Amino acid sequence: MVLTQHIILIGPMGAGKSTIGRLLSEQLAMAFVDLDRLIEERAGASIPWIFDIEGEEGFRERETQSLEFILNSPAQVIATGGGCILRPENRQYLLMSDLVVYLETSIEQQLERTSKDKNRPLLQNENPGGVLRAMAELRNPLYHQSARLTVDTNGKPPKLVTHEILHFLDEIQNEKLPS
Ligand code: S3P
Repeated sequence: MVLTQHIILIGPMGAGKSTIGRLLSEQLAMAFVDLDRLIEERAGASIPWIFDIEGEEGFRERETQSLEFILNSPAQVIATGGGCILRPENRQYLLMSDLVVYLETSIEQQLERTSKDKNRPLLQNENPGGVLRAMAELRNPLYHQSARLTVDTNGKPPKLVTHEILHFLDEIQNEKLPS
């Protein structure tokens, strides 16, 4: 399968976007980019540092700039950060792509996967579960709006999720072929 469009993974922190993005890129022989890592490279600073010095607003500005940059590059698999769907202009960019995949995840799974992580400034507080729940309420409808495919990742190994996405991509490719 040769894809000429980006495949964009969206979903909350701890959904497995980076792991699954990497697996997908290997299967499709496409490049992989993690938007958070790109933001860090372009800023020459870590995400916690950017939040500390520039606040969330500064981080969101950098996120939009990096998203624009990457969408203007050759097709690749892109893992976005969990808040990437917050800005209307980012959602506009996502709507222009066919291949946006939402990795749906329970709060329990998110907590399990993020509990030891110190690189997510929005979870460095007394009640990460409460924060994740409030985020889910605001953001889940935005993920749904922005995605062409939603995959439930709960209790599934990354390889299985990757397989489901590849199956979807195959179906889309077939839809496009003239009969
Ligand atoms: C954020 C998610 C993080 C990162 C930043 C903010 C969010 O990315 O962009 O800490 O607002 O949900 P991951 O979803 O890759 O953890």
